[in-house]
Amino acid sequence: MRIYLDNAATTPLRTEVIEEMNRCMRDIYGNPSSIHAEGRKARAAIEEARKTVANAIGASIGEVFFTSGGTESNNMAIKCSVRDLGVSRIISSPMEHHCVLHPLDVVKKHGVKIDLVEVDARGRINYEHLEQLLKAGGDNKTMVSLMHANNEIGTLSDMSRISQLCEAYGALYHSDTVQTIAHLPIDVSKTKIHFLAGGAHKFHGPKGAGFIYINSEATLKPFIDGGSQERNMRGGTENIYGIVGMARALELGVAEMESHRTHIEGLRSYLMEQLQKRYHDIQFLGDYDGQYNYRVLNVSFPPSKNSEMLLLHLDILGISASGGSACSSGAETRSHVLKAIGADPGRKAIRFSFSFMNTKADIDYLLDKLDTLLEKRQATPALG
Ligand SMILES: Cc1ncc(COP(=O)(O)O)c(C=O)c1O
Repeated sequence: MRIYLDNAATTPLRTEVIEEMNRCMRDIYGNPSSIHAEGRKARAAIEEARKTVANAIGASIGEVFFTSGGTESNNMAIKCSVRDLGVSRIISSPMEHHCVLHPLDVVKKHGVKIDLVEVDARGRINYEHLEQLLKAGGDNKTMVSLMHANNEIGTLSDMSRISQLCEAYGALYHSDTVQTIAHLPIDVSKTKIHFLAGGAHKFHGPKGAGFIYINSEATLKPFIDGGSQERNMRGGTENIYGIVGMARALELGVAEMESHRTHIEGLRSYLMEQLQKRYHDIQFLGDYDGQYNYRVLNVSFPPSKNSEMLLLHLDILGISASGGSACSSGAETRSHVLKAIGADPGRKAIRFSFSFMNTKADIDYLLDKLDTLLEKRQATPALG
């Protein structure tokens, strides 16, 4: 038996998505750039998918470009806005995903000024500081790059507040919305935003497919040269199966958003309540009872015999979750997000992240296994 509680890392494909991709793989083999019937059929499937994605976020069709995922979309927004729009200063935060932070390092080497806004112990942006930074921009053309939901601790930023501040100070606004597309309402026709990023595998679509929304006021030059695909913005024959699968996943995700949310909120609250009831000194990281992404619960466990290797023990017992650390070349490095919020390095942070496919039985299974690994609270002796 395996219980998958790592849906912020990636999600399983939905059956309907697999069926749609199968159909596409079987029936649509033309090159979308060919002008014959097979090519036109492939082109039509891509344009239909573009319409679905545009509708899901309140964009117009011409503002949606398909990419390989969130990483590419964020790279494109940052690097192309510097190259093509004269952005010379970017305000971001220390809690962004590496696919934002690393492109920021790159543009910094080319002379772009990077300012990081302060965040508090729950990972909430200090909006007063953001405004001070915007005010102090001088002649710099500024872009604000702030993620919607943090992938490790789930804290949400207030997109409409950031958008208003950007409007007031004439800044561009980019948001990494990879964790919230299809899970929380996002409407670019109501909230002015210049760039946002989506990756299909975070909403039960295929890996290697994503999109960038580029507001029609922001005209960028090609990110990948070599072909006229994606209206010249990204050369290369399109990942048609991925695009079609992503559109189906997004369509379903948006249609079922509220029911999924209610279901997942229920599982999350149950887990929180049970953890606190069963074990001493459980803490939750992020803005867990304020502005949070309901799909994520980051639990901080006090040091104990099994806490250091808790993730490994859970994996052996059939439960997949993830830690507040990036594991590259076998070496665990402490998460930059946990560092940014000043989380206690002596405690073990574990991110449980849910999907509509999880059940209460999954949570009970997790709790049952945790009971074998952690010391339970003693029942309070009855008085009298
Ligand atoms: C917040 C955030 N941004 C970007 C990405 C990268 O997206 P992709 O895997 O589609 O490249 C991730 C994936 O972990 C993420 O959580």
